[in-house]
Amino acid sequence: MGPPGAGKGTQARLISRRLGIPQISTGDILRQSVQDGTALGRKAHRYMERGELVPDEIVVRIVKERLEREDCRNGFILDGFPRNMPQAEALSRELQKTSRDIDWSINISVPDEEIMKRLSGRRVCLQCGETYNMYFSPPPRDELCGKCSTPLMQREDDKEETIRKRLQVYHEGTEPLIDYYTLNGKLITVDGSGAAEEISERIDKALKDSFG
Ligand code: AP5
Repeated sequence: MGPPGAGKGTQARLISRRLGIPQISTGDILRQSVQDGTALGRKAHRYMERGELVPDEIVVRIVKERLEREDCRNGFILDGFPRNMPQAEALSRELQKTSRDIDWSINISVPDEEIMKRLSGRRVCLQCGETYNMYFSPPPRDELCGKCSTPLMQREDDKEETIRKRLQVYHEGTEPLIDYYTLNGKLITVDGSGAAEEISERIDKALKDSFG
């Protein structure tokens, strides 16, 4: 969990590689549907380009189907889901059906001013999924992916006005989940400022301190 640009995707990728469990990013799945031009993608695009949440029934169905896949049997990391109370409750109901539950919720805390810089500087490789930031972690040459040399793209929702809207949606709809997971005894909060590797170490340490 965390505001847009907190580093959820970056940290989820690191945890996924370390633990060998899939990263399930609702944002990535939705963007892929938009790129593929599917009916779902066309519907989702209207909300995403405005920085609003895609309707719960669409996102919950996507996550439900994804969690049923074989590679989730030994665990998974959700990135960008749940994003409001109805989604959190739907997730809990879905997992209960297979006697599973969320183990931890990791909240990455970053001030709004820092978010603006991170998101306006972000560039992504649509080929291999690698993420860069023109201010903090630029690609090795020009705007080309350092891994596969594909030209990098800027997300259309990384425009300043849309970033502000996404922050507003986060504060109003998603932030209340901090209390929800705190009451469930599942929340750890880490300071999301500093280098990605430092934050990764903080997450590791917080998980070990809190849960052994
Ligand atoms: P989504 O893709 O989930 O976007 P988001 O939450 O706005 O988060 P971001 O992906 O922008 O940021 P992040 O926290 O993952 O940070 P990242 O690691 O990329 O959702 C997009 C849209 O899809 C939503 O607006 C909505 O419309 C829809 N959607 C998705 N899920 C939904 C749901 N559950 N319900 C309804 N609608 C949904 O890093 C950001 C940048 O910062 C990068 O450039 C990165 O390189 C850089 N960076 C990362 N860490 C650091 C660091 N420590 N220091 C400096 N820079 C850093």
